[in-house]
Amino acid sequence: MQQLQFALLTSLLLLLLLPGIRSTATAQEQEVNIVHYQPEQVHLAFGDNLRDIVVTWSTRGSPNASVVQFARNYLNDDPTEAKGTWKRFVDGGKKARTQYIHNVELKDLEPDTQYEYTCGSPLGWSAVYNFKTPPAGENWSPSLAIFGDMGNENAQSMGRLQQDTERGMYDAIIHVGDFAYDMDTSNAAVGDAFMRQIESVAAYVPYMVCPGNHEEKYNFSNYRARFNMPGETDSLWYSFNLGPVHFVSYSSEVYYFLSYGFKLLTKQFEWLERDLAEANLPENRAKRPWIITYGHRPMYCSDDKEYDCNSQLETYIRQGLPMLKWFGLEDLFYKHGVDVEIFAHEHFYTRLWPIYNYKVYNGSAEAPYTNPKAPIQIITGSAGCKEEREPFSNDLPAWNAYHSNDYGYTRLKAHNGTHLHFEQVSDDQDGAIVDSFWVIKDKHGAYPTHQ
Ligand SMILES: *[C@@H]1O[C@H](CO)[C@@H](O)[C@H](O)[C@H]1NC(C)=O
Ligand SMILES: *[C@@H]1O[C@H](CO)[C@@H](O)[C@H](O)[C@H]1NC(C)=O
Ligand SMILES: *[C@@H]1O[C@H](CO)[C@@H](O)[C@H](O)[C@H]1NC(C)=O
Ligand SMILES: *[C@@H]1O[C@H](CO)[C@@H](O)[C@H](O)[C@H]1NC(C)=O
Ligand SMILES: [Fe+2]
Repeated sequence: MQQLQFALLTSLLLLLLLPGIRSTATAQEQEVNIVHYQPEQVHLAFGDNLRDIVVTWSTRGSPNASVVQFARNYLNDDPTEAKGTWKRFVDGGKKARTQYIHNVELKDLEPDTQYEYTCGSPLGWSAVYNFKTPPAGENWSPSLAIFGDMGNENAQSMGRLQQDTERGMYDAIIHVGDFAYDMDTSNAAVGDAFMRQIESVAAYVPYMVCPGNHEEKYNFSNYRARFNMPGETDSLWYSFNLGPVHFVSYSSEVYYFLSYGFKLLTKQFEWLERDLAEANLPENRAKRPWIITYGHRPMYCSDDKEYDCNSQLETYIRQGLPMLKWFGLEDLFYKHGVDVEIFAHEHFYTRLWPIYNYKVYNGSAEAPYTNPKAPIQIITGSAGCKEEREPFSNDLPAWNAYHSNDYGYTRLKAHNGTHLHFEQVSDDQDGAIVDSFWVIKDKHGAYPTHQ
């Protein structure tokens, strides 16, 4: 009798609850497929030259138009209208979640000028944002924030980067791979949340990127669709000039995900050879003395758990493919006199003494970074993500000049053709500078031959 009552009661309860359960499921479905035309995830990049700025954003439905209106003073001036293109992006996940990614290039802007802009279409406009174009020529001192490995969850450095940007501290941001954790997660909803989260930085300052291992899913499709770096390589490799610096971005991942095409590895290597050889020509060095590279995975690191950083096994990035030793980057960068090489991937900060083939080549014992005899390497992968910090090895190698486990990011100011200044900001220590150093070079170009 009691059992029957119980059964009746549960059936009744289920009947009452079922419609509720069903309607929540439907609401979730609807949220995913909801159509609207409001621009979101607004971000900037440098175009093929510094007088061009590319504006990128997403809409859920296709408004069939991509427009940017911009002016020095949007309230008082008649804005100029620039039109661009959009493409449908379907995430590779089960739900085939769709969005439209819009691209407008603002061409031939005035140098050293603040512009205000809004993007969208007649069906919906963004808020009004602003950016400042770089000064003309090489004789000015760009400031950048540089970091890798920043996610949605535990994005420790985000608030500080947003405030720095709002205070006008940076001319560009460089995110050295590993975004969102991961952009494709939850049918790319995590990617959308990340792009919305960085908007208060990236809608105001060019947000320059390279791919990391976390972008691998579906042949890096989320990375390739969402970012628009200079050149025609789906943002996988490119270079740009900023003041006295030639920046070179490349994909360390073409060495690891060979199933996406061995050709990517060879094409990138050939491009790097050409780009570096040109940047290293005496007439180009005279104009822009510094060459700085960035790619996600490091050549050297002092993280115990990472097989890839172990001197017995060698990194593909440094030495090239296993056994064959083809396409190694250490020799290539050395040959063309790259000054500074920036990496991430390890969730910490490390500064190395000038290094080539496991040997330290200081400028001098008193001033290791004044006219160093090999490139200087920095690992800055501690912006903050849900995978948290990584431990250092107990026996730190002789090339390890400084390391920190604090969450934070790197600042670079390229003062002029002879002086670079780096700072490491600790978010754990309320923005304290935990490391800073000058790189001073009277002469740039190929290094002396070491064995
Ligand atoms: C955009 O164009 C497509 C294809 O012509 C059309 O189906 C759709 O209704 C258009 N969208 C809007 C908002 O006009
Ligand atoms: C992956 O994407 C790259 C760059 O867009 C392309 O060249 C390559 O062919 C793709 N690989 C595969 C297996 O689809
Ligand atoms: C390089 O310089 C640093 C700092 O002076 C010093 O600790 C280190 O031993 C030097 N290394 C070599 C190989 O000279
Ligand atoms: C380059 O910058 C440094 C640091 O600000 C300064 O000391 C030096 O005088 C500058 N050199 C020239 C040629 O302006
Ligand atoms: Fe990584």
